[in-house]
Amino acid sequence: MNVVILGATKGMGRALARLCAERGDRVFLLGRDATDLTRSAADLVVRGGQGAVAGTARCDLEQSDTFDPALADAQHALGQIDAVVVTAGLFGTQEELEADPARTERLLHVNFVATVMFCEAARKLLLSQGGGTLCVFGSVAGDRARKPVVLYGASKAGLAAYLNGLDHRYYSSGLRVICVRPGFVKTGMTAGLRPPPFAGEPDQVAKEVRAALLCPRPVVYTPLVWELVMTAISVLPRALMRRIKF
Ligand SMILES: NC(=O)c1ccc[n+]([C@@H]2O[C@H](COP(=O)([O-])OP(=O)(O)OC[C@H]3O[C@@H](n4cnc5c(N)ncnc54)[C@H](OP(=O)(O)O)[C@@H]3O)[C@@H](O)[C@H]2O)c1
Repeated sequence: MNVVILGATKGMGRALARLCAERGDRVFLLGRDATDLTRSAADLVVRGGQGAVAGTARCDLEQSDTFDPALADAQHALGQIDAVVVTAGLFGTQEELEADPARTERLLHVNFVATVMFCEAARKLLLSQGGGTLCVFGSVAGDRARKPVVLYGASKAGLAAYLNGLDHRYYSSGLRVICVRPGFVKTGMTAGLRPPPFAGEPDQVAKEVRAALLCPRPVVYTPLVWELVMTAISVLPRALMRRIKF
């Protein structure tokens, strides 16, 4: 596969890029820091050989004018693009965000407005070449509104609604849209938080997401057990949601 990844410098994006490189895919890395991109590309070459990395380009979700040039560089380097993957995103606990309106505004912007605008650019590019897969990381926090993730969850719920709509609108044109919904996964994003039962590892997520890229479906819970967890949470009555902490 020829895969473009925004967010491969850390966490689940890095694990996915490493797995892709090891399995013989060609990867083009997008990210906001040129030094981090160079370091990440070198790491992939060690794992997958020179052919594993087609190139890198600066792309910052907070700078929308970087989107089109970065995607054009990726297309130039890869030729046909099979998948564009977006793992980039921000997190803050509910307490941190409630205490800092500026941080909340930034998170809502990056996770929703900026990600949607990047996806619009990626969607146009994929359709212009006859189709392809757009795989974007939402969260189980976007499924059912819960006390610890009111603000972060709202950003991911909006993103999930957008991705659902894209699937409906462009499936027949060859666009395959995947909304990945991770549960709690141990990355830098969740460092310092107490892992709940069923907490996952980035390598496990990478395996499940790469399999989904090969055989796309609209929603991918990962680790898979979170689909059961969220099904159970989805039927809890509002009166109980007001009482429990989870
Ligand atoms: N970890 C979890 O438990 C969990 C659960 C559910 C959903 N998710 C979602 O899954 C995705 C990946 O999470 P993760 O845990 O792997 O996160 P992570 O380790 O914190 O990595 C986040 C990535 O996003 C990039 N990024 C942040 N802001 C950016 C911007 N303005 N422009 C471009 N790139 C930007 C970072 O780049 P830099 O290297 O430049 O910082 C980094 O590569 C996120 O969307 C997250 O919301 C995570």
